[in-house]
Amino acid sequence: MTASNNVLGGMSPEEFLRDYWHKKPLLIRGAIADVGPHVDFSVLAQLAQRDDAESRLIENRNGKWHLERGPFRASRFRKLPDTDWTILVQGVNHHLSHIDEILWRFNFIPYSRLDDLMISYAPPGGTVGPHFDAYDVFLLQVGGKKRWQISAQHDDDFIEDAPIRVLKDFRVEQEFVLEHGDMLYLPPKCAHYGVALEPGMTYSIGFRAPPAQELATQFLVYLQDRVCLDGVYADPDLKRQADPARISDEMIDQVSALLSKISWNKDTVCDFLGHYLTEPKSHVFYDAPEEDLDEDEFAERVADSGLVLDRKSQILFCDACVYCNGEKLAATPDDFALWQAFANQRKLKPSSFGADMLATLYDGYQAGYWHFAEV
Ligand code: SIN
Ligand code: CO
Repeated sequence: MTASNNVLGGMSPEEFLRDYWHKKPLLIRGAIADVGPHVDFSVLAQLAQRDDAESRLIENRNGKWHLERGPFRASRFRKLPDTDWTILVQGVNHHLSHIDEILWRFNFIPYSRLDDLMISYAPPGGTVGPHFDAYDVFLLQVGGKKRWQISAQHDDDFIEDAPIRVLKDFRVEQEFVLEHGDMLYLPPKCAHYGVALEPGMTYSIGFRAPPAQELATQFLVYLQDRVCLDGVYADPDLKRQADPARISDEMIDQVSALLSKISWNKDTVCDFLGHYLTEPKSHVFYDAPEEDLDEDEFAERVADSGLVLDRKSQILFCDACVYCNGEKLAATPDDFALWQAFANQRKLKPSSFGADMLATLYDGYQAGYWHFAEV
């Protein structure tokens, strides 16, 4: 683990989780100042032109909200006024290694909950309006100054015809001006309103919180591919019905009994979560390696340099199963400790691996899920 408690201003992760996480806001002055090269407007404008990065431009013109979604043409950014707009790019951690490194400083939260690092840039007056989010977020100020107002209000009355969710009646309870390195943690549903005072960026470390309905739907999709029931509907004792159009009680009972054979247990839910939580977002693709090595050449290189997970890859495990990028990996019990280390540290030390592990590592290397670490 990295010295993750640094990002909490000296507070231990245990104390943060006990007193603040999912409960109440926390302002941390000087949380993270060493962020490497700033991802400023020019970098974001480049990323916002790519189709493998989700981007948005939000403007407030004469009191009216405007939303445009990327990918953008470069010319779009030449027409922007001096004030009152925000450009936001999701998942910057996938594109820039020093941003990925910031995300993993939050490894005191399980990886199954970490989502991405979004970056916004705003000139003075830039804002996305007062709103709340359904998930926990850390808002890190990078360069410039932003005024954040927050409120524990519980209404969800949003402006009706706006293209983004903006609260109609925002009642300020606390206000902070964030400067470079300051960070504000907000639990889900905490209303917030950030307005740039000086041009600068907000790095949002966001967490995933799947809605119950989505979990249920995705679980049913998962089950659909795996349910296997024997038999066929049968009614050897069928009696003539007075109403031939009626679905009889006998039919309902027989189908109920049949459906009650659909069952699941903790292993099923673990397997579902392993697939679901590691499934890459739809615009994420992996690049096959440039070097076309055979398995023996691969084995030599791994023994020399070890491996690092691709920035877009996620390995999670539960019980004795290991999942990567929406797939269950062939991991034997003998190799499980190594897979756990790879998942937790996102890198694997140089070593000569056994035949089973080597075969799975070679497949993942060819798929672009991981790469050789730099020696
Ligand atoms: C911003 O970066 O200005 C908005 C982030 C948020 O409110 O979640
Ligand atoms: Co928000």
